[in-house]
Amino acid sequence: KMTRVVVVGSCMTDLTSYTPHLPNPGETICGHRFSVCFGGKGANQCVVATRLGANTAMVAMVGDDSFGQNYLQNFRDNGVDIAHVGVTEKAATGVAQIAVDDSGENCIIIIAGANLKLTPRDVERAEEVIKGSDVMVCQGEISMEATLAALKLARKHGVKTLMNAAPAVPNLHPDIIKHSDIFCVNENEAEVMTKRKVKTVQDALEAGKLLLDQGCGSAVITLGKDGAVFCQKGHQDIHVSAEAVTPVDTTGAGDAFVGALAYFLAYHPGLTMEEMMHRCSKVASVSVQAPGTQTSYPTRSNLPPTLFA
Ligand code: RIB
Ligand code: NA
Repeated sequence: KMTRVVVVGSCMTDLTSYTPHLPNPGETICGHRFSVCFGGKGANQCVVATRLGANTAMVAMVGDDSFGQNYLQNFRDNGVDIAHVGVTEKAATGVAQIAVDDSGENCIIIIAGANLKLTPRDVERAEEVIKGSDVMVCQGEISMEATLAALKLARKHGVKTLMNAAPAVPNLHPDIIKHSDIFCVNENEAEVMTKRKVKTVQDALEAGKLLLDQGCGSAVITLGKDGAVFCQKGHQDIHVSAEAVTPVDTTGAGDAFVGALAYFLAYHPGLTMEEMMHRCSKVASVSVQAPGTQTSYPTRSNLPPTLFA
């Protein structure tokens, strides 16, 4: 099985509390439910692509602890190649402490831990896997040096790069965006990257232009219930709307979109960008209707066959 989608990114154990509303500073509230699940933006995106039918590999680092061992098993259970997932004694497996309110809104604290121990050297050891892939996906939950090393390797071998600059960092290394064929962010991350408000579709299209000026090949900005936009020089702007659904838990919806995009870029490269974005938006809208991140991602058989035509 040849890898077609490789993700160089994060794994986190998600410790999620479901609560009536998000806590205010100094406030103690009673939640209804707690869960321990597999998350982390990189792994989430990798699992989505795999469930849609991609042959995937993960380049990542977990800690030498039970969360890390469980995570390796989770990758095996999902059929992800983990030859390049290392185990370090230098830090604990990444964790995300998540609160989700009754409207499906969330706030998240991540402790990246072992994710930050993935070095450029570790990434370079995965050169063959990256070289053989159609698409490589990165996010912002590992060190910038490791991400940059991955993007450079992908560029060297003509592999399409999909960079999801999440979570938002104000001082992203300028070469990261320059090495991104597709640079994907949500409205908040777009605000941080462009230093202007991104609330409406029009704002997002303007922010997309500013991201293009920073050197990416194209830009995708996801807008939650308002869908997503796409900008590329010499290409008509695209806005796709999202299906109106009642969200249960929006955590990881962006990852569903990005993972699906990686799948479609690798396996359906003939589709228009607009069509791909419609399909990615569909996958994301399914994910918000069930709790958790990976627990809510559909498999191919749970989606309309038209998505794969
Ligand atoms: O994007 C959602 C993810 O962000 C969660 O799974 C959590 O681990 C955080 O990294
Ligand atoms: Na979900």
